[in-house]
Amino acid sequence: MLRSLVFLLLEVAVGSKIPTILWGQKPDRLYLSFPLKDVREPEVELEERRLYFKGISQGHQYEVDLKLLRGINVSTSKYDMGEKAVSFDLPKLANEPCWKRLTRSKKMQAFIKKDNQRLYPEECYRQMLQWREVRATDGATDGALGNPGKSWEYG
Ligand SMILES: *[C@@H]1O[C@H](CO)[C@@H](O)[C@H](O)[C@H]1NC(C)=O
Repeated sequence: MLRSLVFLLLEVAVGSKIPTILWGQKPDRLYLSFPLKDVREPEVELEERRLYFKGISQGHQYEVDLKLLRGINVSTSKYDMGEKAVSFDLPKLANEPCWKRLTRSKKMQAFIKKDNQRLYPEECYRQMLQWREVRATDGATDGALGNPGKSWEYG
């Protein structure tokens, strides 16, 4: 706790910035990209519900720690430091209706933006219908599949 507080203060002192985060999704994966050029000293940590990134681009340090709304498959997740952006291809733990938002926080976060090149509304909608049908036939309760309206884009 104290250690992380000290690190936090250090970051503030050197002026760490939050990168813009563009995100899109399909029912079975998330696509994220941070439009940062030529990232140096990247640090990436992926956990089932967390994405941490730190790196230097054009003389500024960027850092972000995201608590994801639902789970990703860490072992099949990939990322790439491109010339113009850092991009992430994150398979979801389940093929499920599309997420309502990227992170657990319901607060509007201006640095998180939808990536218009990576939106698949038809696939998302089709998956929602299919998922509803499965729930109706096997009488599934909230839980493993999630609660409609809380996690899903088409609640
Ligand atoms: C991640 O994906 C691989 C390949 O599809 C699969 O074998 C593995 O069980 C998945 N991991 C989790 C935690 O679901």
